[in-house]
Amino acid sequence: MRAAYLLNVLSSFAGLASSTILQNGQVRITDYPNTVLSASTAQFKTYPPNATELSYKGRWDSKYISWWSAPGLKFGFTGEQVAITFGPYTTDTTLIGYRIDGQDWQFTNVTTNATHLLVSPSTPGVNLTTPINPSTFELRVTNWGYGVQIASVHIGKGEKLIKIPDFGRTIEVIGDSLSAGQYSTFEGLSSYAYGLGAGLGDTEYHLTAYPGICLFDKRCYGNLRGMFYQWYHTSDTSGRAIDIWGDKPEVWDFSKQTAADIVVINLGTNDNNSANNVTTDGYVAQYTMLIEGIHAVYPKAQIVLIALWEGFGAVGNTYEQATLTSDVGYVPQIYSIYQYFNSKEYLQNPILYDPVKNATYASHKPSDPFVHYFNTTGILQHNDIGPQYHPTDVGHIKLASHLIQYIKLKFDWPLYATGPEVQHDTLYWNDQSSY
Ligand SMILES: *[C@@H]1O[C@H](CO)[C@@H](O)[C@H](O)[C@H]1NC(C)=O
Ligand SMILES: *[C@@H]1O[C@H](CO)[C@@H](O)[C@H](O)[C@H]1NC(C)=O
Ligand SMILES: *[C@@H]1O[C@H](CO)[C@@H](O)[C@H](O)[C@H]1NC(C)=O
Ligand SMILES: *[C@@H]1O[C@H](CO)[C@@H](O)[C@H](O)[C@H]1NC(C)=O
Ligand SMILES: *[C@@H]1O[C@H](CO)[C@@H](O)[C@H](O)[C@H]1NC(C)=O
Ligand SMILES: *[C@@H]1O[C@H](CO)[C@@H](O)[C@H](O)[C@H]1NC(C)=O
Ligand SMILES: *[C@@H]1O[C@H](CO)[C@@H](O)[C@H](O)[C@H]1NC(C)=O
Ligand SMILES: *[C@@H]1O[C@H](CO)[C@@H](O)[C@H](O)[C@H]1NC(C)=O
Repeated sequence: MRAAYLLNVLSSFAGLASSTILQNGQVRITDYPNTVLSASTAQFKTYPPNATELSYKGRWDSKYISWWSAPGLKFGFTGEQVAITFGPYTTDTTLIGYRIDGQDWQFTNVTTNATHLLVSPSTPGVNLTTPINPSTFELRVTNWGYGVQIASVHIGKGEKLIKIPDFGRTIEVIGDSLSAGQYSTFEGLSSYAYGLGAGLGDTEYHLTAYPGICLFDKRCYGNLRGMFYQWYHTSDTSGRAIDIWGDKPEVWDFSKQTAADIVVINLGTNDNNSANNVTTDGYVAQYTMLIEGIHAVYPKAQIVLIALWEGFGAVGNTYEQATLTSDVGYVPQIYSIYQYFNSKEYLQNPILYDPVKNATYASHKPSDPFVHYFNTTGILQHNDIGPQYHPTDVGHIKLASHLIQYIKLKFDWPLYATGPEVQHDTLYWNDQSSY
């Protein structure tokens, strides 16, 4: 949301392992294992990063470098060992979450050019073969600004990788720091966007979110381009992306993944900040064209526009949401965009957007309504926002829970997550029956 903070955080963390998690200003004890393997990889069977058995989640480029929020890698394997060699474009000390089957997430920080042994005979559950068979390995990068490069994947000699088919439904979240989980414990893996995708269960989720980004295509908080441009590209707007791809990011090949069934957009908090000089008309025009572009790429997707909340403040002897007490947050603009897409005029002759020509065109084919408005008022309260203006871990969980229920009721999506952990390290409870 505010890259002034984001840049401070990046620089102050530069000398620290990224696995240092600050919790209300205190260092959280993490004790994540060091998984670097110093032994030779000759003991393994090795697969290249383009092995067809590997499924990449979110956006990865042609060099197998991860981008945006919580990008993932998933595959099935036989045996009791998985090691991964991370390439030279890996950000040193990137914290990853990884798990097998329905076990809880584990964490480790990744070293550039190193091989990490992530599954071994001592991994809980590795010797159990039911009900999930073959065993499934998944990893997710937690931090939006850091990334990893997959150089190779290793398993035991004589064992094999197995392709895990995609789940039958897909969701994409397009957003800024609020969706990337900035200032939450595990960042991407604590975000409402992840909580939504993983919390629905049996759903592919791709989180195209980056802190500080505007929807409108201009420089915002150090991000050189807005989502209106960047959504069509593989890499995000980080300095890391500029170091690797300069001003020629790879164009994202949407055919690499199953088309999204639901797209959730949460953009405008950075546009609606006087630091970034976006005009209201410009925001509305490019938001409209972004939706027209998404509709061209994913013609069957339902698109949910999240209303902005812009924080809370003390008002007299209570607290109020800023969007209710002052003219902020582009709330009426987002509602009017929703109305526009549901107007008879639009639905009878939908307009689409072509990013190559940077121009709109008429589709000449009537459409059913596909744009929805998600009203956030009443979900978060003032103490769900941390001192850095972003939802706390609890705030993220509330938003995710409401979105899950909204999607269930609105689109008739059953909830398939029925046991395995979604949010990690949220087990707070009272273990005394009386004080
Ligand atoms: C994280 O990685 C860095 C660099 O390799 C290392 O110095 C540090 O000990 C690691 N921390 C943990 C908790 O694994
Ligand atoms: C993977 O890349 C190698 C080297 O570029 C190439 O020879 C091979 O055909 C590729 N494999 C697949 C499955 O694309
Ligand atoms: C990683 O390996 C490459 C060669 O493959 C080397 O150029 C680079 O300096 C190494 N990076 C680190 C941080 O060790
Ligand atoms: C799996 O390994 C654990 C720990 O070593 C052991 O207690 C358990 O009996 C094993 N289970 C099976 C099915 O082999
Ligand atoms: C923020 O949005 C409100 C509408 O809610 C608008 O009146 C105001 O001009 C916007 N401010 C900025 C800086 O974009
Ligand atoms: C916003 O506009 C003002 C006045 O034109 C200018 O001084 C400032 O540099 C601009 N800021 C950004 C981030 O574009
Ligand atoms: C694309 O078109 C929009 C609307 O006409 C315009 O505001 C924007 O500057 C154009 N972008 C580029 C990169 O030409
Ligand atoms: C959003 O919800 C709030 C609280 O229920 C309500 O006051 C407001 O009218 C709703 N906005 C829209 C556009 O429906």
